[in-house]
Amino acid sequence: MENFSLDFFRGKRIFVTGHTGFKGSWLCRILINAGAVVTGYSLPPPTQPNLFSLANLEENMNSVIGNIRDRDKLMKTFRDAQPDIVFHLAAQPIVRDSYSDPAGTYETNVMGTVNILECVRALQVPVRSVVIITTDKVYENRNWAWGYRENDPLDGRDPYSNSKSCAELVTHSYVQSFFADSPVAVSTVRAGNVIGGGDFANDRIIPDCVRAVQEGKPIAVRNPYSIRPYQHVLEALFAYLLIAQRQYEGKELAGWYNIGPDDSGCVTTGELVDMFCRAWSNNLTWENQAEENAPHEDNFLKLDCSQLKTTFGWKPVWDVETAIEKTVEWTWVWLENKDVPDIMDRQITEYISKI
Ligand SMILES: NC(=O)c1ccc[n+]([C@@H]2O[C@H](COP(=O)([O-])OP(=O)(O)OC[C@H]3O[C@@H](n4cnc5c(N)ncnc54)[C@H](O)[C@@H]3O)[C@@H](O)[C@H]2O)c1
Repeated sequence: MENFSLDFFRGKRIFVTGHTGFKGSWLCRILINAGAVVTGYSLPPPTQPNLFSLANLEENMNSVIGNIRDRDKLMKTFRDAQPDIVFHLAAQPIVRDSYSDPAGTYETNVMGTVNILECVRALQVPVRSVVIITTDKVYENRNWAWGYRENDPLDGRDPYSNSKSCAELVTHSYVQSFFADSPVAVSTVRAGNVIGGGDFANDRIIPDCVRAVQEGKPIAVRNPYSIRPYQHVLEALFAYLLIAQRQYEGKELAGWYNIGPDDSGCVTTGELVDMFCRAWSNNLTWENQAEENAPHEDNFLKLDCSQLKTTFGWKPVWDVETAIEKTVEWTWVWLENKDVPDIMDRQITEYISKI
C-alpha cells in the first residue's frame, strides 16, 4: 500500500455509521488505536453477543444510537461531530432478510445513503473524504468465470444486492451534482465476503460454523458449491482506510473500487468450511444441507481488483487459509473468556507489519 500510514488518522475527526456491527467495530478499534476522534452513529449492536461490546469501544469513542433513516437526528449528530472523514457502513446486510423485508432493506440501504450524503452536502467543510461501503453483489451477475470490473453494469438481483446497486447510483449522482466543485472526495468500495473473529450474524457461514461447534453438531452448509471471494475483515478495512487517506490528500483518486482476494481466495463455501474444520481440529465435520425452494443467491462471483492495485499499489496481505486461522484464533480467545481487545490489537499489529 503506497504512501499509507495510520499516523495520518491521529487527531482526525472520523464519523462511522454502523459502528456497532462486525466491520464497524474492527474499524473503530483501529481508528481509536491510531489516535482518531471517533463518532459512531448506528442502531444498537445487531446480535447478542456482539463485537462492539467485546471490543471495549464505547468508553473510547462517542457512540450515538440512532436510525440512519432518521435524517434529523443523523444531521444533528453529524454537525456536532464536525468530521473530516466519513465511513458509511450502516446497512441491512443479509440477503435472506432482504427477501423477508425488501422495503425495510431499501429504506435503510438506499435512503440511509441519501441521508448521509445529505449531511455531507449540508455541512461540507470540514468534510474532505467520504467512503461509502457497498458490496461485490452490486453487479448484474452473469455467472462469468472472470471477475467483475468497476465499469460493469450494476443490477444486483435480490433486494439486498439491488439496494446496494441503488446506493452506488445515488452516490454517483451526488458526486456529479453536488461535490464536483467542492473539496469533498467520495468513493464507493465494493468488498467481497469478509470473515474474521467477532462476526455473530445469522446466515453467514463462519458464524454458522462457530455456533455448530458450540452446540457440538456437524456444520450445516446450505450452498456448498457457491464460489465467493472470501477475505479477512482487515483486508477490506485497510483498503477503506487507504482510500480515505489517499483521496483526502488528492481528490482525483476518488472513484469506485472493488476489493477482494486473489483467485486463490475465491473458493466454494464447502472448501472454506473444510479449511475451518482443519484449523479447528481434525474431527469437526460438515453436512450438505441444501434447501429446496431456498431464495435465490448467485452461485458464482469474482472481482477484478486491478483498479485498486494500480491506483494505490494495493495487494492482498492474508490469504484465505490465514484468514480462517486468524478467525479460529480469535474465536478460541473469546470462548475461553480471555482478552478479546488484546487479540484484536495483536492481529491488527501483525496485519500492519505485513502491509
Ligand atoms: N460482512 C460482509 O461479508 C460484507 C461484505 C460486503 C459488504 N458488506 C457491507 O459492510 C457493511 C457492514 O457490514 P457488517 O458485516 O459489519 O454488518 P453488521 O450487520 O454486523 O453491521 C451492520 C451495522 O449497521 C447498523 N444498522 C443496520 N440498520 C441500521 C439503521 N436502520 N440505522 C442505523 N444503523 C443501522 C447495525 O446496527 C450495525 O451497526 C454493510 O454496509 C454491508 O452491506 C459486508
